[in-house]
Amino acid sequence: MNISSYKSHAEQWENKATIRTRPRRIIEDDDFGYYPEERQPLCFDSIISKLDKSIKDEILLQSLYKYIDDVITFETEIVNKTALDIAKGNFPFDFTFEIQYDAMSVVIDENYHAFVAMDFRHQLELQTGVKPIHRSHDIELSRAIPRSIAMMSGKHKYGMELIAVAISENTITEDVAAFSRDTTIKRCIKGIMADHLADEGRHSKFWINVVRIYWQGIDDEARIAIGSGLPKFIEEYLTNEIQNEFDRNLISSLEIPEIVKDKVISNMTKTYPITSQHPMITNIRRFLVETGILSHQPTATLLSKYIDGVK
Ligand SMILES: [Fe+2]
Ligand SMILES: [Fe+2]
Repeated sequence: MNISSYKSHAEQWENKATIRTRPRRIIEDDDFGYYPEERQPLCFDSIISKLDKSIKDEILLQSLYKYIDDVITFETEIVNKTALDIAKGNFPFDFTFEIQYDAMSVVIDENYHAFVAMDFRHQLELQTGVKPIHRSHDIELSRAIPRSIAMMSGKHKYGMELIAVAISENTITEDVAAFSRDTTIKRCIKGIMADHLADEGRHSKFWINVVRIYWQGIDDEARIAIGSGLPKFIEEYLTNEIQNEFDRNLISSLEIPEIVKDKVISNMTKTYPITSQHPMITNIRRFLVETGILSHQPTATLLSKYIDGVK
């Protein structure tokens, strides 16, 4: 892939983008769950699993609220920043009109995903009468991206940000796919996830192509500089600090005795080691191979701690 062989997804977008094709989703009033239990390890805690079902339901509902808020932050603050820079020609690289135009379609999609998420959160609040617990607005990427960019000199900051956003867009695609396959949750939630996935499949290809073109178009000094920021980005991205803080606040908000809360909190896993076995690493490795980044030996060496031995 070089810049002249880039093929726009504009036609596909006109025919398939969810903003063009999907109806509004309304929450059904049935017995299916709000959030897959397997995504929330607290549900498998030996104490929680013995408590009344309403406690687990509260944990799952609050976890869904967090997921929705995280999507809104991710779309509007992380992806759109870079997509809009490319679309408006503010990104310091000579992208073609096709790429700028496709980047603008990503901005539209992401704003729409945030819009759908807001509607859905509001419907959930009305249906359940439960408000989201207070929590930090940050997601892992709101810390990981600025911290890895801070390691770069001026001219490499945009490239670092582009690659970080592209990695996270690829990761979210896998994540939304797994969510949409879950059989225990409400049909409308699966529907929203499937809608989102339809757009994210197009986005993940877009970001891979843009990064491949960018990586080929920069000189070796830039590749070495940006490559040196990637381990920092991966470490910060895969931390479970924010999730941990959320889980603690969630436990504290439950209507259960203090002594039980303390016990559950002390059972929580504190660390989540980042090794080549980490589930998101396989996905990141695939991205690095497809974009050509891993063919750059100095970068591959720096990343070997995380990705060696991952198939
Ligand atoms: Fe999205
Ligand atoms: Fe996206």
